[in-house]
Amino acid sequence: MNDNEKKDLLAIDDIVEDLPDIIDWAIRYKNDTDFNLDFKPLEGMSIGSIYEKPSTRTRVSFEVGVHKLGGQPLTLLKNDIQLGKSESIGDTAAVLSRFLDGITYRCFGHADVVELARTATVPVINALSDLHHPCQSAADLMAITELGDVPGHISWVGDGNNVLHDLLLAGVALGHDVKYATPEGMEPNEQVIARARKIAEDTGASVIGTNDPVEAVSDAGVIYTDIFVSMGEEHMSEKFAAFDGFQVNEELVSHAQSDYAFMHCLPAHRGEEVTDGVIDSANSIVLDQAENRMWAQMSLLTYLCNFNAWQTYRELF
Ligand code: CP
Ligand code: NVA
Repeated sequence: MNDNEKKDLLAIDDIVEDLPDIIDWAIRYKNDTDFNLDFKPLEGMSIGSIYEKPSTRTRVSFEVGVHKLGGQPLTLLKNDIQLGKSESIGDTAAVLSRFLDGITYRCFGHADVVELARTATVPVINALSDLHHPCQSAADLMAITELGDVPGHISWVGDGNNVLHDLLLAGVALGHDVKYATPEGMEPNEQVIARARKIAEDTGASVIGTNDPVEAVSDAGVIYTDIFVSMGEEHMSEKFAAFDGFQVNEELVSHAQSDYAFMHCLPAHRGEEVTDGVIDSANSIVLDQAENRMWAQMSLLTYLCNFNAWQTYRELF
């Protein structure tokens, strides 16, 4: 990346070439307390976060993470600002760019965060759209990296949704084979699959889709699921019927490696996509994923908002 070029994160493959270093840096933020205390790459900067949908993890992890990096976090809830009422995305982006050094945006349609990034003059981070959730996948691949050697592929059981899209892209970028099972008609976006396959050509990883959950999880090292009906799809409750057989329960996980890791972006709907017995088991790393949201986003913010510091300190690794 050119030093002076504005860089956005709309999907995780926007930063694919530096993703391994970004994850290493996140692990360093998490484990190296001295580095963590002394290094303030966002000092004097303000990061605004716009939310059109509810959030627990994303909101708290951005607020605390920006503070740890020496910056000022601002949370902008859609009902409290002019966006969507009397002001367009473009005008909002232009105005906020005069105050802020970075903007995160959780929106419904992905085109909205694309438009915000197009018109903002500061870096824009997608904090979840209907198509992508890149911050989640950075934290997830960090958690998988922390596991050390993963003895099998990453499997996905559930909807072909935003979380799967970035898990696919990031998973193959880090050399993991990914096998996903979705109900018929709920497969991931074809353009995202094509992008993942292209990345996989370079890393030697594979992307396999099926409609059979048992096939996806057989011999898996990781089993990942998410809610069946995402935010913004509440009117599509008829989707539930298609997920018969897709619950991640004790029987389904018995097909995986015995030391498989169970993953979920949270919030979980216990008793729907996953049983208590699985999410509360010793195999579950869901709380590590949640914590890693903060460390991964701190690394992403450093990379996107202070690339000079990134380049200087990268030499130390
Ligand atoms: N996983 C995730 O993005 O959680 P929140 O909706 O609570 O931010
Ligand atoms: N797929 C879910 C993820 C929530 C973090 C949603 O979009 O609602």
